[in-house]
Amino acid sequence: MKEEHPIVQNSTELYHPSPETVAQANVKDPEAVRIEAAKDIQAYWAKRAEELDWYKKWDKVLDDSDKPFYKWFTGGKTNIVLNALDRHVKTWRRNKLALIWESEKGEVRTFSYHAMNREVCKFANVLKSMGVVKGDLVTIYMPRIPETVIAMLATAKIGAVHSVVYGGFSVEALHGRIEDSGSKVVITADGGNMNGKKIELKKIVDEALKRSGQPEHVVVIKHLGIDVMMEQGRDYWYHELMTLPMSKNGLKCETEVMDAEDPLFILYTSGTTGKPKAILHTHGGYSVGIHATIKDVFDLKEEDRWWCTADPGWITGHSYIVYGPLIAGATSIMYEGAPMYPYPDRWWSIIEKYGVTIFYSTPTAIRGLMRFGESWANRHDLSSLRLLGSVGEPINPEAWRWFYKIIGKEKCPIMDTWWQTETGMFMMAPMPAQPLKPGSATKPFPGIDADVVNAEGKSVPVGEEGFLILKNPWPAMMRTIYKDPERYVKTYWSTYPGYYFAGDSARKDSDGYFWVIGRVDDVIKVSGYRLGTAEIESAFITHHAVAEAAVIGLPHEIKGMAIHAYLILKSGNEPNELLIEDLRKHISHELGPIAKPEKIEFVSSLPKTRSGKIMRRLLKARAQGLSEGDISTLEE
Ligand code: WTA
Repeated sequence: MKEEHPIVQNSTELYHPSPETVAQANVKDPEAVRIEAAKDIQAYWAKRAEELDWYKKWDKVLDDSDKPFYKWFTGGKTNIVLNALDRHVKTWRRNKLALIWESEKGEVRTFSYHAMNREVCKFANVLKSMGVVKGDLVTIYMPRIPETVIAMLATAKIGAVHSVVYGGFSVEALHGRIEDSGSKVVITADGGNMNGKKIELKKIVDEALKRSGQPEHVVVIKHLGIDVMMEQGRDYWYHELMTLPMSKNGLKCETEVMDAEDPLFILYTSGTTGKPKAILHTHGGYSVGIHATIKDVFDLKEEDRWWCTADPGWITGHSYIVYGPLIAGATSIMYEGAPMYPYPDRWWSIIEKYGVTIFYSTPTAIRGLMRFGESWANRHDLSSLRLLGSVGEPINPEAWRWFYKIIGKEKCPIMDTWWQTETGMFMMAPMPAQPLKPGSATKPFPGIDADVVNAEGKSVPVGEEGFLILKNPWPAMMRTIYKDPERYVKTYWSTYPGYYFAGDSARKDSDGYFWVIGRVDDVIKVSGYRLGTAEIESAFITHHAVAEAAVIGLPHEIKGMAIHAYLILKSGNEPNELLIEDLRKHISHELGPIAKPEKIEFVSSLPKTRSGKIMRRLLKARAQGLSEGDISTLEE
């Protein structure tokens, strides 16, 4: 059976860690830890929680009295900032660099833990002076600059809840997320640099706020120095606010003592309906989960220089640019711009310049850079690297091998981490001291129990494709969908009662390694970015020429998946190139450039079920020339 699936055949291609890698690994025998944790997951997670500071220790590790609304470390008192900053500034680490930032133009700013803490305290006082209190929502819509990190930490410090909206999103996407969250304050910048272009974020905020009920205040960071509209009484410059004496002692601000289960942030992510879901994470369990995973999977050490190339606007940025590395007391690199700017060696030059030791990126980026050939990488000294990582979509073995050989020089294990906005932390990932198979995220993290099942919920045989489920709760799991607990239960816990339904398909091989294949719902991963077909379809409908829209994802060499749109035009509209261009612009303006379709086709009808639902599966099969499968529900 093993030979039947080409992807599982790869299981014979094994990469063993070097003796040095094993000798220095934080976890020397991952398999033993997995077995030990499985015996008593509560004892395991309690031990991991002991690695952090708490104002007050928890009474109970796991409260599962109201499934699936699991609670972790109940009775415990903490704040993620206690572990990310407060505990470090009391030690020698206050002199250690927390963040090294480089702009696309090459400007460099660095923050020691002391300096970062000072900025966070000042800005926390600013937020307080604007009336932001514990439990209030704050939207953060920013380029990749240090103030994004400062704003997130300041919000968390005072017990408010942040909702970071990716800076690549545009008017309608931002409007919907601000309105749904009911944010009191929006924090943004005049704009950011991306691939040599200026992205005017404040302009997008102004347009989004015309559509939303107004938040009370907008704080604007001057980053580009371009002209922006400032509405009196609503909009304030960050740099002006930061010079005001906010309290008797403007540089100090007490960290709000939170319950372990108090909300830390919401993060909107696309699902199967047009309305994005606000995934809610909390202070206690989330801190424990991301700390344990970054320590074990990425083997993080005091002397490492960590670089995760994601954007703080996505979960990878929350967990592994901002909170994870700071809780671990690490030094993080952040780069504002595009990997190809001005040339396709920008990332490699950053690795060389700052002596990056651990580099965590995406398959799309690797494939994109691979295209330019290895000479761009070879002109840089990448010998500081000791570990690599991949996230966001399955990594094809060819890209894996290139990454391993050309970037890692065959000495850096690649940690392929499978997880989701909802899971908060890695669910499946190797550890450096374990053999790797290109394209497999290997095995569940200790304490996580995963399986691949069929439609009836039965485990499928080795090598067969099925649905990926998680059988145990874990500390960094989402707690609910903000304002929509019913949707939480329905989406994740109803398909297989008692188990978490991930929405991915996968296979398991005879060594117990997992091979994640892709989404089985209407989520499309474009360049690793998560987009919902329904959200894109709704954006199409707002164009005056469009009557109906269907959107699917089709395989793409670099992006992994690309968006294809099928549109029915309102009568009187000419299907021509000009209109296609206009539609692409419209999507870019409403949702953002990442949602721009690869291909637009005009059709006279769409395949629908008798109940009127578009059969995207059928569109996909037809576009790929595959069998149409069961079409008994198709309306004639
Ligand atoms: C996909 C990103 C294969 C998967 C952290 C998942 C992956 C979705 C991997 C979540 C991986 C993420 N291998 N597929 N290593 N990592 N995915 O919420 O389909 O943006 O369900 O979180 O990305 O996307 P999200």
